[in-house]
Amino acid sequence: MNKITLATSSGSSEILIQEDGLSAVSDWIKEKYPESKVMVITDTNIGDLYKEKIGEIFPDAQILAVQAGEGTKKLESVKQLAEELLNENMHRTDILIGFGGGMVTDLVGFVASVYMRGMVYIAVPTSLLCMVDAAIGGKTAINLEAKNILGTFYPAELVLIDPAFLNGLPERQFRSGIAEIIKYAATLDSSIADELLEDELDIETILQKSIQAKADIVSQDLNEKGIRKVLNFGHTFGHAIEQMSDYDLTHGEAISIGMVLANKVAQNLGKQEKETDNQMRKLFEKFKLPSEIPSRINIEDLVSLMKKDKKVYGDKITYIIAPEMGKYEMLELSAEELVDLAK
Ligand code: GLY
Repeated sequence: MNKITLATSSGSSEILIQEDGLSAVSDWIKEKYPESKVMVITDTNIGDLYKEKIGEIFPDAQILAVQAGEGTKKLESVKQLAEELLNENMHRTDILIGFGGGMVTDLVGFVASVYMRGMVYIAVPTSLLCMVDAAIGGKTAINLEAKNILGTFYPAELVLIDPAFLNGLPERQFRSGIAEIIKYAATLDSSIADELLEDELDIETILQKSIQAKADIVSQDLNEKGIRKVLNFGHTFGHAIEQMSDYDLTHGEAISIGMVLANKVAQNLGKQEKETDNQMRKLFEKFKLPSEIPSRINIEDLVSLMKKDKKVYGDKITYIIAPEMGKYEMLELSAEELVDLAK
């Protein structure tokens, strides 16, 4: 077992990395909140796989499965879940567990943060992407016209990272999570790149290093006023490409292309050697992640979507480049300048 503590300005998260660790969550609850009621919210896909196991470990808990898919991350779902919590007479010191991928932890974290102004929240991510990103660092969200428009910063008190869940993960989703790990290798810890290049992946070490890299950043800047923006490497173009593809591309595939475009921007500004781009491309190739913008997407058309990015201030976007593996620099550029530089 490995434990990372993420201390933020809004409370601490304990992050347990433990194979078959669900009973450790139950022990943690018994020790810290012995009187609390527990509700577990998952989605229909994950529920089919793990409902029985959840029931065994949390025999007194309510277990609910929301419809799987990004479409569930909406205001109506918040209302429905809050009504369920009210029906069960749950209060602030009762416990809400979000058990699933990023859609589930974004939505359930949001509900936990606003129900009675905040109840105890535990995240149990089941996808690689959620383990290394969505469930770490307290971002919660639901979608309005665009993705993640309503949200809060509300770190889970406990996050269980259980590598055993990765065994049931479809290959494409696993690779999508690897893209976020490449982001940490590119900007924060180049030793993660060495791990990813090994013939046999040491997934526990990769999880530990990636989560530690993110925790070190979030502990300095929970609310993303400054240094946390580094975590958006590849995401400015990536989010726009993901939307333009009508979500045909996974998040990881879209941000992989976004990272390659960030390298083009860096090189056109004379801020990156070609070798750094080659090192990243080697990783994209190994994990069958795309590095070219699909031909049906015109890069000029990304401008209007990029202007809606949450990181826009005035007409400038805080844009991240990686001058070399494991290093980052923040630039202030407009969407038009970025598109010109990415060609
Ligand atoms: N996914 C980027 C962040 O948590 O800041």
